Amino acid sequence: MTLRVSVIGTGYLGSTRAAGMAEFGHQVVGLDVDPERIATLAAGRSPIYEVGLEPLLARHTRSGRLRFSTDYTVIADWADVHFLALGTPSRPDGAADLSQLHAAVDALAPLLTRPALVVGKSTVPVGTARRLEDRIRALAPAGDGIEVAWNPEFLREGFAVDDTLRPDRLVFGTQSARALETLEQVYAIPLTEATPVVCCDLATAELIKTAANAFLATKISFINAMAQMCQAAGGDVVLLADALGYDSRIGREFLNAGLGFGGGCLPKDIRALAVRADELDVPVLSQLVEAVEAINAGQRDGLAELAIEQLGGEVTGVRIAVLGAAFKPGTDDTRNSPALTVADRLHAAGAEVVIYDPQAHLPPRDNFTQVDSVEDAVTGAEIVLHLTEWPEFRYLDPEALGQLAKTKIILDGRLKLHAPTWRDAGWKVVQIGRASSL
Ligand code: UDX
Repeated sequence: MTLRVSVIGTGYLGSTRAAGMAEFGHQVVGLDVDPERIATLAAGRSPIYEVGLEPLLARHTRSGRLRFSTDYTVIADWADVHFLALGTPSRPDGAADLSQLHAAVDALAPLLTRPALVVGKSTVPVGTARRLEDRIRALAPAGDGIEVAWNPEFLREGFAVDDTLRPDRLVFGTQSARALETLEQVYAIPLTEATPVVCCDLATAELIKTAANAFLATKISFINAMAQMCQAAGGDVVLLADALGYDSRIGREFLNAGLGFGGGCLPKDIRALAVRADELDVPVLSQLVEAVEAINAGQRDGLAELAIEQLGGEVTGVRIAVLGAAFKPGTDDTRNSPALTVADRLHAAGAEVVIYDPQAHLPPRDNFTQVDSVEDAVTGAEIVLHLTEWPEFRYLDPEALGQLAKTKIILDGRLKLHAPTWRDAGWKVVQIGRASSL
């Protein structure tokens, strides 16, 4: 059954979700207050680098199934379902800033004169959905005819289209059979493909999302703490992670030690979870999150210190090549990028930092120079830092790069380089937590 669906907020999540809903066969309008973004999307172009998104946008803007608008009156009484896909960035105190969600609801609700389902997708502190419903019902002429459901989004950057079209699970936080039925119609296609569904209340749905992010962050910080243990004891964290990963109760994913986690989601969402846990008087959870964050921050600090140590403790005027700027491979997103934190630290210590990233293009700034090739970055460098594990970095030619570098030292912050190949070419390779590399 074809539904009329609006997606409010066309950032990473919203633009992918809007295109995905059109692919599921629905009539979709994506709405945003940013006219430039809407113009780009309406032309079938993607405002972000995300594999497969542009073809999907192009296909459905051409077919007419996917439209974009900045006007709430276009969607208000037209759509059966309104998805809220707005950003929830951090406030200065670490709590989630819900102002975009509130602004969207305040613009939409007064225009709702017939019953509709409003479905939250954004990652929010537990309790938000219920409060939003009160707010909407108070403002909407349709009053109690408007219902709120929560349907968290688990998409990963770099896999956003795939995660949207073929989700590994669906979470339906609803309060009525009617709302559940509507969500089943929205997701009729993935549901025919036996996608697991968890049906629950609003609070559980909100918590599932933050718990997933907190658990992933905990896995990463755990393996990074073990990397430090391996470093201290002379072990190898990669082999350790491989062995843990064979235990099906643990699994190998998110056990890659290195510079730790960054990006627009994990860091902000776990901080907001810690703040909410304190508000609800659950200190054990905020303490756990704080430990995870402390380990993560320590990885960045530790790597910058190690680089300085490798250069004899003094880096003023020393040229340092940084490979990678994105917070992970497969995206041009540099929000909370571990690589950039390290670059900033080294710049602050006086180094001349030169960065290369295959996709992320940084706005010009004083801290470092961005160049267009690995070769340009490495030329004249006294140390090379591998900070984002783009696959192409695994296939670099250490012989050729050795001719360009001033000193052949490479610090592999992601433990992904084949150290013996680099050593054979005369490089000193440093990998934290891999005793065999030292
Ligand atoms: C994350 C969640 O995975 C996704 O479900 C949620 O919807 C949004 O947040 P994303 O931010 O795209 O997605 O990145 P993710 O792939 O989770 O990686 C997060 C960070 O952890 C990256 O900086 C990555 O480099 C790092 N990471 C990941 C590790 O350091 N080690 C690992 O083993 C895995």
